[in-house]
Amino acid sequence: MARKIVMTSGKGGVGKTTVCCNLGVQLAKRGCRVLVADLDFGLNNADVALGVENLALYDLVDAVEGKCRPRQALTRHPRYPTLSVLPSGRVAEHYVSPQAIRLVLDSLAPQFDFILLDSPAGIEEGFHRAASCAEEAVLVTTPHVSAMRDADRVAGMLAHYRFGRTGLVVNLVRKDRTRRGETLSPEEISSLLRVPLLGTVPEEDRLYLNNIEGRSRPFKALAGKLLGEEDRGFGGRR
Ligand SMILES: Nc1ncnc2c1ncn2[C@@H]1O[C@H](COP(=O)(O)OP(=O)(O)O)[C@@H](O)[C@H]1O
Ligand SMILES: [Mg+2]
Repeated sequence: MARKIVMTSGKGGVGKTTVCCNLGVQLAKRGCRVLVADLDFGLNNADVALGVENLALYDLVDAVEGKCRPRQALTRHPRYPTLSVLPSGRVAEHYVSPQAIRLVLDSLAPQFDFILLDSPAGIEEGFHRAASCAEEAVLVTTPHVSAMRDADRVAGMLAHYRFGRTGLVVNLVRKDRTRRGETLSPEEISSLLRVPLLGTVPEEDRLYLNNIEGRSRPFKALAGKLLGEEDRGFGGRR
């Protein structure tokens, strides 16, 4: 049965989709059966981040509305046979309830080791819908003050969900700026937010290509942590 992990952040543009998709690739490269499920109905860009946007026939909204079976809504990644993507699809005509999404995901869960849920920014309905489908959470932030402030609000909300595990990923880290004291270090951010540090990702120039080619070192390390290879720090809010 799949581990369902939601990527959250509060602020938009901090790297949720990037983390979700890169992790998906890395876990699939290790032979895990991974589903990247896009619950960001507004943007629906996980398929683009994985380079499969032209392959999808159906999406999550189609599955919820009964236009296809949940399995048919999956797009298999041509490069990684054990990686599938479930695009969120267009904004539905009708409200898509968390229960309806959970039903679809639960029916797919036995076929996967991981279901990674990409969620929208903000702390409104879309956030709660995604969080209520998961059992574990990854909080993504950057070292910027506005992102950390939003992450703090989300961390507080995540505490209510009583996730089995919650971990922090600090994205867009620049060591030179941390060294000069211009930004907090990932460790300092982790203790400020009281969420255990799962990994750090530097600013990368060729991020998109590195992602699809699965070469990104930080994400390899992150996948290892999720698999418990170095089981430090993936716990609850302290
Ligand atoms: N580590 C990184 N290095 C360089 N660019 C990044 C990095 N992480 C994210 N980006 C870029 O920042 C933008 C926003 O990232 P995205 O993952 O879509 O954020 P979110 O899903 O939180 O809104 C994208 O264009 C993405 O390619
Ligand atoms: Mg996104």
